[in-house]
Amino acid sequence: MTDPLDAALAAAVDRFVETRPQSAALAARAGDVLPGGNTRSVLHTDPFGIRIAHADGAVLTTVDGDTVVDLLGDYSAGLLGRRPEVADAIRTVLDRGWGYGAMSDVEAQFAAALVARFDSVDQIRFTNSGSEADLMAVLTARHVTGRERIVVFEGAYHGGPMTFLPGSEPLRVPFEFVVLPYNDLDAVEAVFASDGAQIAGVLVEPMLGAGGCISASAEFLAGLRRLCDEHGSVLIFDEVMTSRLAVGGAQEQYAVRADLTVLGKYFAGGLSFGAFGGSAAVMSAYDPARGGLTHGGTFNNNLFSMSVGAALTPLLDAGTLAALNARGDRLRERLLVELAPIGWCATGLGSMVTIHPVPGPVTAWSDVATVDPRWRQLLFHELLHRGFYIAQRGYLALSLAVTDEQLDGFVDAVREVAAIVRG
Ligand SMILES: Cc1ncc(COP(=O)(O)O)c(C=O)c1O
Repeated sequence: MTDPLDAALAAAVDRFVETRPQSAALAARAGDVLPGGNTRSVLHTDPFGIRIAHADGAVLTTVDGDTVVDLLGDYSAGLLGRRPEVADAIRTVLDRGWGYGAMSDVEAQFAAALVARFDSVDQIRFTNSGSEADLMAVLTARHVTGRERIVVFEGAYHGGPMTFLPGSEPLRVPFEFVVLPYNDLDAVEAVFASDGAQIAGVLVEPMLGAGGCISASAEFLAGLRRLCDEHGSVLIFDEVMTSRLAVGGAQEQYAVRADLTVLGKYFAGGLSFGAFGGSAAVMSAYDPARGGLTHGGTFNNNLFSMSVGAALTPLLDAGTLAALNARGDRLRERLLVELAPIGWCATGLGSMVTIHPVPGPVTAWSDVATVDPRWRQLLFHELLHRGFYIAQRGYLALSLAVTDEQLDGFVDAVREVAAIVRG
């Protein structure tokens, strides 16, 4: 007898393949030159990823001619939406020329706009991605402490080379990591009690993002701060995602000061971006006249990202972020109403949400680690069919372009999917 979930998923996938011949053809052609037709693993969906032809506001038009509401917001990098100010900032670069191999005034303007947001950050350095910024932050912690060990958490995602999700070991940088359960302060206390003098730092997302929008408890983050203080270790907040929670990021909301902060994703309006920063005392290690660390990167100050960041960062003020995150909170509440009857839940903070096929509560990666992935695939395909694009892992990140009407439609679509799940 066929498993009803298998049957539902097979029907959804068949419909996907039938309605997306152009995406299928492009995927096949891409497969000749890109392994699996893809160069960003998260974008692969079985049997192939959709191809987008055009984007306007929060609507994506696929090469197959249908439109879908973009609730993924480029995995949170698209927070600003495709607003005219981004295009204007890019145009200023087209007018003045780019690729100077020299400094301009713009990187300092962007840096000033970022430093002004975070109490704990006096100085920053730019990178090309959040992954690179996380690596630099960890290397900085190792350098300033003269220690090697880094405490990280199960389910964490700090970019490709520092992923702590299943299957990520082969591509992980060979640092000395101690991987502990998230939100488990006792486990961290125990490691510090035995090996505190060897721990260079703790690298933590204030909310596990790719791991399922699982938020930290206030006690957990405050405890990490205390342990790092007691043992001279560096507390690194990876705020690539959570910086959108408030002008000063999650560290403002939780009132916990980080020693090093990692940024990424949306500040450059969807162009490549990453940054890490902290106190002047730590960051002076990169001052050629003082610490003398060299940190290269041809594109660290690329004028496109710098110009968009300098122009747009001030627009992300307290009111704008509060309104966006309040919409996310309301959406999550509405989703919980629809999902509870089928034993599913929605987690996250503010405008970042993940739908899980478990009842919750979800406080650690282990709470969702054994979920049957077919449920997530079914959700993805059924929502796409109804015109809503989210990540296959059930994740969505609202951009400023998303409208209330689109969110109403999404809640309706989730209700319909819940009915399919109920059977
Ligand atoms: C928390 C977190 N850290 C780091 C990264 C890596 O950023 P990037 O994709 O720009 O390398 C991501 C990306 O999803 C992230 O969510």
